[in-house]
Amino acid sequence: MTLRVLCLLAGVALGAGGAAAQTVSPRQAAPARYGIGRPATPSEIAAIDIDVRPDGRGLPAGRGTAAEGAPIYAAKCAACHGATGKEGPNDVLVGRASQGFSFSQDPSLPHTIGNYWPYATTVFDYVRRAMPPTAPGSLTDDEVYALTAFLLRANEVIAEDAVMDRTTLPKVAMPAQRYFAPDTRRQYPAKPTPKPQP
Ligand code: HEC
Repeated sequence: MTLRVLCLLAGVALGAGGAAAQTVSPRQAAPARYGIGRPATPSEIAAIDIDVRPDGRGLPAGRGTAAEGAPIYAAKCAACHGATGKEGPNDVLVGRASQGFSFSQDPSLPHTIGNYWPYATTVFDYVRRAMPPTAPGSLTDDEVYALTAFLLRANEVIAEDAVMDRTTLPKVAMPAQRYFAPDTRRQYPAKPTPKPQP
């Protein structure tokens, strides 16, 4: 077959394809459903619907104290955050600011729970969803309350014997909270982008 005939055949095939495409609109071509996936079950949604708001909404039942949290911290957290939460090698969790909120003046200052976090409830939320990083979600709610109490106590935010639960945790006032303000800026709809002139 000569090259010229091949080109001719290719042209015919393309032409036929083009004609067929013109007769089927994209809407007709797309099926209403592709037959893959299924709706998530309520229990599947509940398993990942674990967010805790700053005001404590979303906190589960359960309780824990710093004394209960200490052995859990030593077993499951100290290897990465240090024996007292100050040593690392990963994020420093414990430490109070000696003066003010001087992160912009001293970029080497570690952001800890005691000197930076505005809400105690976030400690629960974060630890429950993300720690330890090798097995997130593996801690029971009581263990997370106990670890939260341990970390808040280590940061000198709560009393030694304070019990953390869904009622007490949202009432804990964090030292750095006054440096944060709610974002009350109004959200305006985006302006339409002007069409480019031809
Ligand atoms: C294998 C190492 C490892 C272990 C074990 C571990 N963490 Fe972490 N943790 C990290 C790393 C890495 C980060 C930083 C994650 C990031 O910024 O994305 C972190 C971040 C955190 C933070 C947030 C720090 C901040 O200021 O942003 C908290 C709180 C925390 N871990 C608590 C815990 C607790 C409680 C445990 C024990 C249940 C634990 N971690 C176990 C490695 C670890």
